[in-house]
Amino acid sequence: MEKIKIGVLVSGEGTNLQALIDAQDVGEVNGIISVVISSKKDAYALQRAKKHNIETLFLDVKRYPDKLEYTKTITEELKKRGIGLVCLAGFMSILGFYFVEDFRNRAMNIHPALLPAFGGKGLYGHHVHEAVIKSGVKSSGCTVHFVDEGCDTGPIILQKVVPVLDDDTPESLAEKVLKEEHKAYPEAVSLFCAGRLKIEDKRVIIEE
Ligand code: GRF
Repeated sequence: MEKIKIGVLVSGEGTNLQALIDAQDVGEVNGIISVVISSKKDAYALQRAKKHNIETLFLDVKRYPDKLEYTKTITEELKKRGIGLVCLAGFMSILGFYFVEDFRNRAMNIHPALLPAFGGKGLYGHHVHEAVIKSGVKSSGCTVHFVDEGCDTGPIILQKVVPVLDDDTPESLAEKVLKEEHKAYPEAVSLFCAGRLKIEDKRVIIEE
């Protein structure tokens, strides 16, 4: 089976990108990360990609006051390279219509909570873990989902759960969740590349 070309969109640290690179290196994923696109110039994720000789592209979100233009530019760059799967990994911009249309069921995001709770606008980074702790829930975790028109609303591929303990802080919870993210994202990408994800309305069925 031919390897699927993967494009990873980032804005920050890139630890999830690193988990995907590592999974690819040990042959866990039948795909090849072909380009890493960042919305921020100083994203450390870019260094990680360069170290592994992966093509990098910096598309400055600040230079596109029109969000639609930004979405179009990113979408075209991905299409030009024959990207078959897009992974949003800490990408801090919301991509609109063109992207979702072109990459429907071929773009994933990872969110540091158990969706559909604690998702949507304003719930990113430490805001998520603060809200989780404040709410009093006893479990949190991460969610890998397909990207649709909404914010954190697409079909859920898989989730991993961590306990929320009485002495957890947003920082300690973030750390625990991130560890699970690094397992969940490669797993989801591997299933996609093996052609084992079937979408039925809002449900994602993992085929044997
Ligand atoms: C992760 O917590 C992810 O769930 C969220 O952004 C963070 C990115 O971290 N979408 P990193 O850049 O992969 O280290």
